[in-house]
Amino acid sequence: KIENNLRPQMLEDYIGQEKAKKMLKIYIKAARERGESLDHVLLYGPPGLGKTTLAGIIANEMGVNIKITSGPAIEKPGEIAAILNNLQEGDVLFVDEIHRLNRQVEEVLYPAMEDYVIDIVIGKGAGARSIRLDLPKFTLVGATTRAGMLTAPLRDRFGVVNRLEFYNENELKTIILRSAQVLGVEIDGKGAAELARRSRGTPRLANRLLKRVRDFAQVKYDGVITKEVADLALDLLDVDKYGLDYVDRNILTTMIQKFSGGPVGLETLAASIGEDAGTIEDVYEPYLLKNGFIQRTPRGRVVTDLAYHHLALE
Ligand code: ADE
Repeated sequence: KIENNLRPQMLEDYIGQEKAKKMLKIYIKAARERGESLDHVLLYGPPGLGKTTLAGIIANEMGVNIKITSGPAIEKPGEIAAILNNLQEGDVLFVDEIHRLNRQVEEVLYPAMEDYVIDIVIGKGAGARSIRLDLPKFTLVGATTRAGMLTAPLRDRFGVVNRLEFYNENELKTIILRSAQVLGVEIDGKGAAELARRSRGTPRLANRLLKRVRDFAQVKYDGVITKEVADLALDLLDVDKYGLDYVDRNILTTMIQKFSGGPVGLETLAASIGEDAGTIEDVYEPYLLKNGFIQRTPRGRVVTDLAYHHLALE
């Protein structure tokens, strides 16, 4: 069980991602009716949009257990073999950051995903032989911020592939109101709307900001989150009107002031602001692209008029 009571447990309580939800609902129903395990599911998209939550919901809806691990946590083929061998019939194995599995571990997964077997090598040298072990039928739910970094053989073994999208303000507002209820904090419609507007399209951030704003409401006000409280707290938290944080603005400002607005290559930009290139690409860039602050060109990233305008720079 995933310990976080802000996460919905069932599909009907999950707000947004309508496309993924609609498809999963059908696949889950079909698999259940046939009494089979669900086909392997790949979820990809920027962090914080609900990949882990959806994996938990898939397990709940299928009425099975979930085992959670991640790409970098599995170092040796024997480790993944042990995890797979300990699953029960129908279980969900959730592998976060699945693009970071190493080659040997990935190779254990191929026959496991395709035929529910693993091949174990016993002995060494000329006497070595391989035995085949049957596994319970299971569902691998893989999550990644970058589908493009999966190897083709791994990607091809997922029967269901869903891209998660940024949430719109209405969806985020609904999530915030739901979370406020779970947390027992009072919030009005305008307070929730302001939080939604500044949450970068991301429920994880919305819930985090909600908790921080609640602290301000409790200590500095009468405990109710209004637009006034939200505005004040979010300004102090350095989250601007578009939900951009310090790093987002640093990316844009650096592109404008040091690179004349671009085009600038990812690595050059990363070195210039002292951030990891992968983090910029996975965490920051998707939201800036989606909202038209930057564009990608064959020669690198360029900032748009919107970015100049928002930062009030010429
Ligand atoms: N909490 C976090 N993400 C959520 C979602 N998509 N729906 C409902 N509550 C959530």
